[in-house]
Amino acid sequence: MNIVNVIEGSNSLPAMIRQDDFIGWVYKIDYENAFVMTNDIWKSKVNGVSHNCFLLAAAFDPTNFAAVKPAQREVILLRVVGSSNLPMDDHLVNTKIEHYQEREDSKADSAKLDDLTRNQLQFNDLQCRVLGTFFTNDAGRLCLGSDLESYHSATQLQVFKPRGKILETIVNYISPVREAAAKEDAMRLGIKGTMPDFTIGAIRYTSSNRLQKFDDEVEFRIQSIDFLARRTAVFGMTRTGKSNMIKQLVSVVKSTADQTGLKIGQIIYDLNGEYANANQQDVGALADVYPEHTERYRMLPAQGFHLIQNNFYLQIGEGFMIIQQVMEERTTPSADLRAFLNVSFEEPDKDDRSAHNRWEVKKAIYQAILYKAGFPSPKNLTVSFPVNETIRGIVDPGNQFPQAQHGGRLQLTLEQARAWFELARAANRQSSLSSSSGGNWFDEDGVALLNMLAGRNSNDAYITGYKHLNPLKDFHSPDRTKDVSEEIYEHLLIGKIVILDLSVGDPNQRSRLSKVIAQHIFKRSMGIFNKGEFPPNIVIYVEEAHNIMGRKDDLTDTWPRIAKEGAKFRIGTVYATQEVSSVHPNILANTENMFVSHINNESEVRELSKFYDFGDFGPSLIRAQDVGFARVKTLSSPFVIPVQIHKFEPKKDAQQKSGTV
Ligand SMILES: Nc1ncnc2c1ncn2[C@@H]1O[C@H](COP(=O)(O)OP(=O)(O)O)[C@@H](O)[C@H]1O
Ligand SMILES: [Mg+2]
Repeated sequence: MNIVNVIEGSNSLPAMIRQDDFIGWVYKIDYENAFVMTNDIWKSKVNGVSHNCFLLAAAFDPTNFAAVKPAQREVILLRVVGSSNLPMDDHLVNTKIEHYQEREDSKADSAKLDDLTRNQLQFNDLQCRVLGTFFTNDAGRLCLGSDLESYHSATQLQVFKPRGKILETIVNYISPVREAAAKEDAMRLGIKGTMPDFTIGAIRYTSSNRLQKFDDEVEFRIQSIDFLARRTAVFGMTRTGKSNMIKQLVSVVKSTADQTGLKIGQIIYDLNGEYANANQQDVGALADVYPEHTERYRMLPAQGFHLIQNNFYLQIGEGFMIIQQVMEERTTPSADLRAFLNVSFEEPDKDDRSAHNRWEVKKAIYQAILYKAGFPSPKNLTVSFPVNETIRGIVDPGNQFPQAQHGGRLQLTLEQARAWFELARAANRQSSLSSSSGGNWFDEDGVALLNMLAGRNSNDAYITGYKHLNPLKDFHSPDRTKDVSEEIYEHLLIGKIVILDLSVGDPNQRSRLSKVIAQHIFKRSMGIFNKGEFPPNIVIYVEEAHNIMGRKDDLTDTWPRIAKEGAKFRIGTVYATQEVSSVHPNILANTENMFVSHINNESEVRELSKFYDFGDFGPSLIRAQDVGFARVKTLSSPFVIPVQIHKFEPKKDAQQKSGTV
């Protein structure tokens, strides 16, 4: 990890304490909280002490560190969470009020207060959360314990406001343990050494953010390894910068792949079509930034997009699975429909000749059903299947239907196949009635399919049959020659960015297709893993996740499984939504990284407060509506850090790739 630990080394503790940053004294402390007495003058010298700002407390003299007792060689990290009352505050408020009552003009002037009172009036106090304790280990490495081991009320703890490089070190701090773990993770991915980190924003404490600007900007970096095979949440109200954050992450992952030579596939569920097309307000549609590495899919035809839909005539298994799912959802199937939905299209072993022949016949009848149900057919599609001579003679005594070049097979157009199978069904009914001509020629599945095709049940009474399938033709695309999920998986294998533009088309179809694709990615990677090989690295981004990942999904459903087991199969997930409460509890509980911008209500903040130290930011999350003002917890950092996320700017990004940034 490239942490620029500016103040690393054996003198790192005294280097954190600069007399210019002094702001006051700790007058009360326990394991959880520290109360700091400060003064208007000291505060103004450091450009103010804002809510949520970091402070440091130390009891040693940094100019003579060698003389400091080992027990005192520590720096306590604090976060300002509010104010409290100094014991003499009430008395001072009285003095202040009396002073204003006695005044005759409106000019601000405290000169009339006697010196002692004025001095006292300037004192005020801060309540701080104890975030941890910095110390150095035997190797001289800066470490942070996430608590306060012991405290001495009598110790004189001076308090400082870290700025510049000191603040940069604090907010980018990574523990040696995490660093070692990250190295191991990287090694498992086949990377020697460490994975790169990237600046994604600058420290920002408040919405006003005015005084802070007098100081130098302090960069916040994220470790790319935190996002591979991990879960990341992006929370915040609409238009507070969630999609911008996702673009940043996609670009971080892409740059990581470029810099390490690791292939990382990325797929974005783009519900608003904002990644695929440049829109007016934003430059930075990913497809424009990485034209060579992006593949776009859509449910309706458009220039530069592949169609998501499968070709039902060719991707028999995938298409039939959609039919099964939709029909099960829409109706309580009748016995005939049920028999059809239970048909298995799994291909038997080729060596099992008779089973394989029966499967070919089933496939042919199914194609004829699709045709009759109005599914547009691929150009020049012919249907070919084996038939024995006797049956051929009975079904087609006049030899009207063309035989394939190799004997024993028919090769028909879809229209011919429909006609042939309808004749075959009628003939088979005759044959099964008179046992002398050989009984039933078709197995159970075959009969169910023929009934669907004819729109009649086994007693020859009318049924809805093939007409059931007509509305499902929107799921079908006649031009595709390969299963879309597999095609997408192959793009991911070679490290492409796949954008699924789900902004157009039927919402039901949208969530179904999304799921089928996610399921396929999961299954394929799991398959590779189970063979003892390494699955590819894939990151799945889901925008408006509440539309796609159900809160009430079963634990065995696709999304909860991806969240829970994806890490094993090297699948990372990043999901964005406004509502913390809309996320499946299992996914939430497994989330390692969180980026949170403005949230507009108490109950969502309460959900969020259950995680890490987000509770400290409740009021500010509700109040500050600033775009890109995020509170960030990543796997590598031990606490939440308030950050202004940089706007994703492709030009900069191109430079980053060529190493000039
Ligand atoms: N960090 C940022 N800095 C500046 N502008 C931003 C930032 N994040 C987002 N924006 C801009 O704000 C608008 C809304 O951002 P967007 O990411 O689409 O929000 P969301 O996905 O939460 O609805 C966009 O025009 C975007 O360019
Ligand atoms: Mg968005």
